[in-house]
Amino acid sequence: MADRQKKLWGGRFHQQTDLLVEGFTSSLDFDRRLYKYDIEGSIAHARMLAKQKIIKKVEERAIIAGLKAIEAEIEEGKFVFSPGDEDIHMAIEKALTERIGEAGRKLHTARSRNDQISLDMRLYTRAEIDRIIELVRKLKAALLGRAKKELGVVMPGYTHLQKAQPVLLSHWLLAFWEMFDRDEQRLEDAYKRVNVMPLGAAALAGTGLPIDRWYVAGLLHFPRLAENSMDAVSDRDFVAEFLFVLSVLMMHLSRFCEDLIIFSTDEFGYVEIADSFTTGSSIMPQKKNPDVAELIRAKTGRVYGDLLSLLTILKGLPMTYNRDLQEDKEPLFDAVDTVASSLVVFTAMLEKISFKTERMASGAASGFSTATDIAEYLVRKGVPFRESHGIVGRIVAFCIKEKKSFTDLTLEDFLKFYNGFDDGVFQVLTVEQSVQARTQIGGTAEEAVRRRIKEIEGR
Ligand code: ARG
Repeated sequence: MADRQKKLWGGRFHQQTDLLVEGFTSSLDFDRRLYKYDIEGSIAHARMLAKQKIIKKVEERAIIAGLKAIEAEIEEGKFVFSPGDEDIHMAIEKALTERIGEAGRKLHTARSRNDQISLDMRLYTRAEIDRIIELVRKLKAALLGRAKKELGVVMPGYTHLQKAQPVLLSHWLLAFWEMFDRDEQRLEDAYKRVNVMPLGAAALAGTGLPIDRWYVAGLLHFPRLAENSMDAVSDRDFVAEFLFVLSVLMMHLSRFCEDLIIFSTDEFGYVEIADSFTTGSSIMPQKKNPDVAELIRAKTGRVYGDLLSLLTILKGLPMTYNRDLQEDKEPLFDAVDTVASSLVVFTAMLEKISFKTERMASGAASGFSTATDIAEYLVRKGVPFRESHGIVGRIVAFCIKEKKSFTDLTLEDFLKFYNGFDDGVFQVLTVEQSVQARTQIGGTAEEAVRRRIKEIEGR
């Protein structure tokens, strides 16, 4: 038989696999990314088999040396993957047997590719969660540093994208810090459900051979074992959960990008993205476009797609393993690559952004952004809030008609709307006073923001 027909599972087959089928079913093009984890898992499995006297010590040594040599070759790009090898497990096992002979054929004892792939995916996901957490931490540190540096700068806060109330620039920055902090917590939490050792489930029903699952778990630093062999080989919740957490993280990045895109327009003019993080137009010489931010916004949709792909793949699967599960990999890899590169470029872009603080301050002062402060001033004088809301609303209408702002009004003007006004109103209607008054936990007063920064730094 020609080489490509020698399948490791070929015993019961009379016909060779059609080339079309070989190409269609192979996952080698993408799952070769898992080689390190596949080898790490196989080494732990071989150690356990030897400890349990299921294979001999010399066989264990041959297997481990063979696997390490294969790993080095793959790393150096010297390993030849043959298209007939269905997946990374087959490619490595076949190469091992070619090198060390009989002992290589014992590695798969008490194991199936079904529990093997679950292990590989868990090892890979663990490492990637760690990497993404590191990137999120860097972004959070950049945000915190910037919030400290910009303390005192006032900007307009928006609801419905209409100017609402003045806030500190640092408060706006730290709002994103809180989002990414939750993302970090979600990543840590998802990690717990990834960190479960599936080997021993074999195809679906476990094995009759005297394996030691805890020993394997110890070697691979898993604190828990999968408790049900059927669940162990069919479960991809941990991938779906990771993709969900990544989707939320991208959504946060995307919303941040949206603010930066809007704020960098001539109309807002609050933000200047560095030249090195923008691109020009091929026809309009004056243009400077926020393409990085736009692409991150778009890639968010792509990561949602990865999550939706996986959930859709999973929804109709009968117990237990089905080949459908092979399609979990590309969405996972794509999401990880997309999120990691987005975090790296976004953090670098943020570090070079400049804020046009004068423009922000004047933006904060216009648009009657202290109307609520005047209403609250009346509340302190005993006016029910609904009534004070109406009074200030009429003052706003008057100002719009007369083309005035609150600071243009005299006490006589105020008295026309309510006879309880006094000079105290002039103590509440400026932007600075409005911000300073909000000292509650979670408020935007400099005092409150400083407190939060201290808390964060003290953690
Ligand atoms: N390449 C397969 C996957 O990714 C490995 C498991 C194959 N198992 C099987 N029974 N065909 O899911």
